[in-house]
Amino acid sequence: MQSMVTSLAGKSMVQLMLGLWILAGLSSQVIADGRVPTDLPENQSQAVNFVEADEEELPENVVKVAISQFSYKPAEITVAPGTTILWINEDPAGHNASFVAEDLPDLDEDLAGPIAGQGERFAVRFNEAGRYDYYCTPHPFMKGAVIVE
Ligand code: CO
Repeated sequence: MQSMVTSLAGKSMVQLMLGLWILAGLSSQVIADGRVPTDLPENQSQAVNFVEADEEELPENVVKVAISQFSYKPAEITVAPGTTILWINEDPAGHNASFVAEDLPDLDEDLAGPIAGQGERFAVRFNEAGRYDYYCTPHPFMKGAVIVE
C-alpha cells in the first residue's frame, strides 16, 4: 500500500513537472516572439540589404517567409524591387539566410545574415531586379530563392 501511494505521488509529480516544462516552453516562446537579432552583417550589398527587423519600423511593402521544420516557406518567392522580406524562425534550432556572392555583383563573398533563434526574425530589403539564392549557414541543405522583378 505504501509503495502504491509513493508511486502514485511520483507519477503525479512527473505530470506536474511535465506540465510546468510545457508551460515554460510556451511562455518563453511568447516572450521570444518578435525579437530581432541585433548584429546586421558588415559586408552589405547594394542589391540586398539586411535591415532592422523591428516590425514597427518596417515599411509597408513587407512579405513574410516562415522558417519551419528546417525549410523556408515558401522556398521560392517573387517580389517587386523595393520589397522587404521578413523571415520568422518558428523552429527551436537557429537559422539564418546567407546570400550567394555569385548573385551579388558588388560582393566577393556570401552575405551571411544573423542567426535567428525561435520566435526571432530578420529582414532584408531587395533593391534591384535579379534572382537571389540563399541558404542557411548552419544547415546548408536549407535553400531558398528570392526573385525580384
Ligand atoms: Co538552418
